[in-house]
Amino acid sequence: MTKTFPTLTLLACCLALYSTDLLSSKHAHARTHQIMTAMDNPAAATYNSNCASCHQRGVMGAPKPGDSRFLADIDMLVENAIKGIGNMPARGHAAFLSDDEIRAVVEFMRSPN
Ligand code: HEC
Repeated sequence: MTKTFPTLTLLACCLALYSTDLLSSKHAHARTHQIMTAMDNPAAATYNSNCASCHQRGVMGAPKPGDSRFLADIDMLVENAIKGIGNMPARGHAAFLSDDEIRAVVEFMRSPN
């Protein structure tokens, strides 16, 4: 019991957060959109798994998909995404992504629709 208690508390917190999110139809809609896009475009799936946590809501000033910052030179954007810049961690903490995968995601983030 003493061991499982913190785990259960953590689980309960996650569940609480998750269900609040589910109750908001706006987020549910956004999620459906993300899933559908992911089926059409593998880069969208990579984005959802590795970049959306910051970029979808602009955490710490991360530019959202379609932001005018993505109109900058593509090679420079890709290089900054690979090496990291400001609060943007190198490869978004996803070191397993290849340079080509990063490029494909940045291209997706430029014009997500
Ligand atoms: C931990 C949060 C976080 C994650 C995860 C993250 N980013 Fe970022 N990203 C940022 C922030 C914050 C910025 C703005 C950096 C700045 O200019 O200070 C940024 C900026 C960028 C930029 C713009 C760089 C420029 O030159 O203006 C690109 C491109 C980018 N991220 C790509 C990605 C990709 C691709 C992924 C997933 C593989 C990713 N990011 C994951 C936080 C994140």
